[in-house]
Amino acid sequence: MNILLAGGAGYIGSHTAVELLNSDHDIVVVDNYSNSDPSVIDRIKEITKKDFKSYEADIRDKKNLEKIFKENKIDGVIHFAGLKAVGESTKMPLAYYRNNIDTTLTLLEVMEEFKVNKFIFSSSATVYGEENKVPYGEDMPRGKATSPYGWTKIMMEQILEDAARANTDLSVIILRYFNPIGAHKSHLIGELPSGIPNNLMPYVTQVAIGKLPKLTIYGGDYDTPDGTCRRDYIHVVDLARAHVMAVEYAKDKKGVDIFNVGTGSPYSVLDIVKAFEKANGLKINYEIGDRRAGDLQDSWADVQKIEKVLGFKTQYDLVDMCKDSWEWEKNIKNISL
Ligand code: NAD
Ligand code: WQD
Repeated sequence: MNILLAGGAGYIGSHTAVELLNSDHDIVVVDNYSNSDPSVIDRIKEITKKDFKSYEADIRDKKNLEKIFKENKIDGVIHFAGLKAVGESTKMPLAYYRNNIDTTLTLLEVMEEFKVNKFIFSSSATVYGEENKVPYGEDMPRGKATSPYGWTKIMMEQILEDAARANTDLSVIILRYFNPIGAHKSHLIGELPSGIPNNLMPYVTQVAIGKLPKLTIYGGDYDTPDGTCRRDYIHVVDLARAHVMAVEYAKDKKGVDIFNVGTGSPYSVLDIVKAFEKANGLKINYEIGDRRAGDLQDSWADVQKIEKVLGFKTQYDLVDMCKDSWEWEKNIKNISL
């Protein structure tokens, strides 16, 4: 199939691009590079030895998007294009609602116009909110989000369900990502946080390389075995592979399907620090600080549905996640951005 990757130059999009090309799908990347670098496109080509078209464009620019759909025979869309920093979304909620919801609406409108009916959406574990109990199952009701970012994901899931109810030809697959970390084994693509990272793993790698002096662990007094929060970390290449399986599943499907994409195994913040130290033979300078507002104590997935329906199994463990994150961090300086 020929899949348009909206936001395909970003962290998860670029890894998905590689996995799709390696599975003999064609891709078209559309990105405005607001949170990525155009050189990522060349590196995807270098890894896969395959060529594809890419466009520098804002997904919200409907005329331009129509032109892209006219120039290419698109079979389906994966929508990664969004703003994703939880803290920033509390400071600039309107920008988050505008970007995240407009990109979704514009894609759906143009897809309808061109009779493209396969839509895969990057959702998030954040939609489970505070109300549900771990492990989160897809049939639990969406909760109340703890940030405008989280609300955009809840709203977009609702929009997609309404769109699929009205257009019965539409196939929507909502992938609720847990905590992606790691990088491609080539270490040519990975996460590129702008400024000081908000997420745990890029913070750890930046402390390890000396860009940041010390990791603050947000809270050591949670009701968990070591007092720190637990999350479901998944290797980004495994997450990317789930998209390939979703694309293939969408071929013969209509309506909405929701899948958690995680490993189902929780690790605490201290587990991550210790695993990173052991995997890479390093020491991480850290202290236990105050809790971060909005953090949940626990978040991990029930993965039975994705395993059963898509046949998805992760291939990489926490050691791979820690090693690949570190190798990528060391390689960033060698990559011309
Ligand atoms: P990312 O920022 O690395 O990638 C997003 C890409 O979209 C970037 O390349 C950015 O330039 C592009 N983009 C943003 N707005 C655009 C627009 N209007 N037009 C064109 N391009 C635009 O983020 P990521 O980590 O790869 O996340 C991808 C998606 O997955 C996002 O929707 C995010 O909310 C979701 N998600 C991410 C995580 C995570 O931890 N990384 C977890 C759950 C869900
Ligand atoms: C993980 C754990 C922190 C940084 C966020 C979004 C979520 C999803 C993934 C997009 C937590 C702790 C972190 C640090 C720390 N994104 N931590 N010190 O919060 O689970 O999820 O990213 O959809 O929506 O909310 O991920 O990596 O920020 O934090 O102690 O400097 O690490 O408290 O327990 P989180 P994270």
